[in-house]
Amino acid sequence: MSIFRKKSVTQAVGDSTEGEASHLVKVLGVRDLTSLGIAAIIGAGIFSTIGRASFNGGPAVSLLFVFTAIACVFTALSYAQFASTVPVSGSAYTYAYVSFGEIFAWIIGWALILEYAVSNMVVAISWSEYFTSMLNGFGIQFPGYLSSDYGSAHRAYEQVQAALRTGEAVPANVQALARAYEAAPMLGSLRLILDLPAGIITILITYLVYIGIKESRNASNLLVILKLAVIGLVILVGAFYVKPANWSPFAPNGVGGVLSGVASVFFAFIGFDSISTTAEECRNPQRDLPKAMMYCLIICTVLYVLITLVLTGMVNYKELGVDDPLAYVFQKVNLDFVAGVISVSAVVAITSALLVYQLGQPRIWMTMSRDGLLWPKFAQIHPRYRTPSFATIITGALVAIPSLFLDMQFFIDLTSVGTFFAFILVCGGILYLDAKGISKESKFRVPYVNGKFIIGLGFIATLGFTVYTGNFSTHFAEKPLLIIFWLTWAILSVLAFQRNFSLLPVLGILTNLYLMTELGVTNWAIFVVWLVIGLVIYFSYGFRKSKLAGRELTSV
Ligand code: ALA
Repeated sequence: MSIFRKKSVTQAVGDSTEGEASHLVKVLGVRDLTSLGIAAIIGAGIFSTIGRASFNGGPAVSLLFVFTAIACVFTALSYAQFASTVPVSGSAYTYAYVSFGEIFAWIIGWALILEYAVSNMVVAISWSEYFTSMLNGFGIQFPGYLSSDYGSAHRAYEQVQAALRTGEAVPANVQALARAYEAAPMLGSLRLILDLPAGIITILITYLVYIGIKESRNASNLLVILKLAVIGLVILVGAFYVKPANWSPFAPNGVGGVLSGVASVFFAFIGFDSISTTAEECRNPQRDLPKAMMYCLIICTVLYVLITLVLTGMVNYKELGVDDPLAYVFQKVNLDFVAGVISVSAVVAITSALLVYQLGQPRIWMTMSRDGLLWPKFAQIHPRYRTPSFATIITGALVAIPSLFLDMQFFIDLTSVGTFFAFILVCGGILYLDAKGISKESKFRVPYVNGKFIIGLGFIATLGFTVYTGNFSTHFAEKPLLIIFWLTWAILSVLAFQRNFSLLPVLGILTNLYLMTELGVTNWAIFVVWLVIGLVIYFSYGFRKSKLAGRELTSV
């Protein structure tokens, strides 16, 4: 028995055709897939987290969107080759099962919980922001202490107290949070502060997913048009209110300020990979998945860059530290009607993102349970609604409860660190497939550029430049995680020289890893704790119960 036991591609494809999965209908084409991708990508990121990223980095955050998109393109190419080689659902989890083996598959499945369930906590909180701002537009004040989290409210309160002593100005949204803190009823010595709308919307969506609205995906596709329309509206109307003076300085807090938005910006791109879970429902996954991933990444990048420029052009970047920036900037230029339209449409648009992930998470668990890595209950299908009912309820509780109490930024960081990790493994998996000649017959392969010399020369040149500019020592003192980045690059340079590695997946590993190092030691530490919990579960259950363990025994 081995923790590295692998599924062969034939086995993975065979497993996917057993049982109910074989009844899936192959209807999706490029347009549907692109639309599904956009439905998953556009959510809390563009509606909310872009605000804080711009607050920290200024207009230059638009460039961070471009850089992050490049990392995503390398990753998308790798996903596409996998989807073309192993056209089964399960996404990165299945890919890791055929390339690196079971333990990595488990780790990725475990990390995908961060990408799907934890990211949905952010989406739920962002939904709540727009919902309360919409109610405001209708003259209804939702109590602040029932629509925020304790940590943020407490911080705002402290900030206001400090400002009272120093006479410093405090933004209006921080003052509102501080007032919510003061107004909160006491439960013994605790203040009752929770984000009720975030919890309630999660429960409602989970209920929909549970009763198996068959058309939910199609409905969410329709909502893509609404999402694109709102974003189009912001860009087109907002463009008339741009004051180029606001773009100067372009990077007020330097490169550090821009890079502090990595998690938020990356969060906005998360989701393009989710279309690979529909591989079994595509007419021609080998041809259409790669195209669709590229299309949705290009469309979203263009929209994100334009929106960042518009937001930071309409108001001073310092005003953007809010969770509903798209509506906020229009209030600031006295276009309350437009702000209202944006709030209402954002509520609907964000709901669709919530739905996509709430659908995805139970299905990943279902796949893992079918492989024997999770308890059989996770694969239980409701007799009437035909949905993975138990897994859906667990997903609902897992997302709803923390979103009532915790801070959005915490979830953004956690989601991002886990997703970067999954992306790095997927890019690495391509090097494995290539080395073993597994995807020789695949209809889509990452375009091959021989990295034999380029990867090493790039390493020497970049290292040389960093030393030459005198940044080398400060570099490590400020960001110790960069050691991992440089070491990985050095190792990849040697391996690439020996084995003629394909350049693009290596660039995928390096760009993702670089961005991941920007997330800081605390986030890595939390992620490591997450992984350790996952490994404890694996060794106490999946390792023994895995279907592959059974196959090994029977083949002895
Ligand atoms: N990209 C998704 C969103 O922004 C996670 O909501």
